[in-house]
Amino acid sequence: AVTRTFSIIKPDATRRNITGAVTKMLEDAGLRVVASKRIHMSREQAEGFYAVHKERPFFGELVDFMISGPVVVQVLEGENAMQANRDIMGATNPKDAAPGTIRKELAESIEANTVHGSDSDENAAIEIAYFFKPEEIVG
Ligand code: CMP
Repeated sequence: AVTRTFSIIKPDATRRNITGAVTKMLEDAGLRVVASKRIHMSREQAEGFYAVHKERPFFGELVDFMISGPVVVQVLEGENAMQANRDIMGATNPKDAAPGTIRKELAESIEANTVHGSDSDENAAIEIAYFFKPEEIVG
């Protein structure tokens, strides 16, 4: 089925001016950008977004990194979009990511790993609603 997922192009990618290269890899994987905006998250916004990780040892650094520069938040649409996006992103740690994936080809480290993608359809709906109003999504 055609579904939607949520993606963030992270500050390491905006800093290196490679948001187009990342988006091309998403599009080449069959995903369509149906909403996109460049934002600079507040600390409160980033903490809320990553609330599921707040007990993790890396939470503070993760939030600091995610507010260190602008990001591009996107809604992606395609056949089984959540899984298709996870496949093209590759493993969280670029050292473990397969050749041809965004993280293998472009990421700097496990923290500066270029992209976030929702890990389930349920979380995709929650994450999309965190950043986008329904009318901002144009399929
Ligand atoms: P993301 O998909 O955005 O979700 C949580 C993020 O935490 C993850 O990608 C990584 O970029 C980041 N992170 C930083 N350190 C770690 C770690 N040791 N293990 C897992 N994720 C980490």
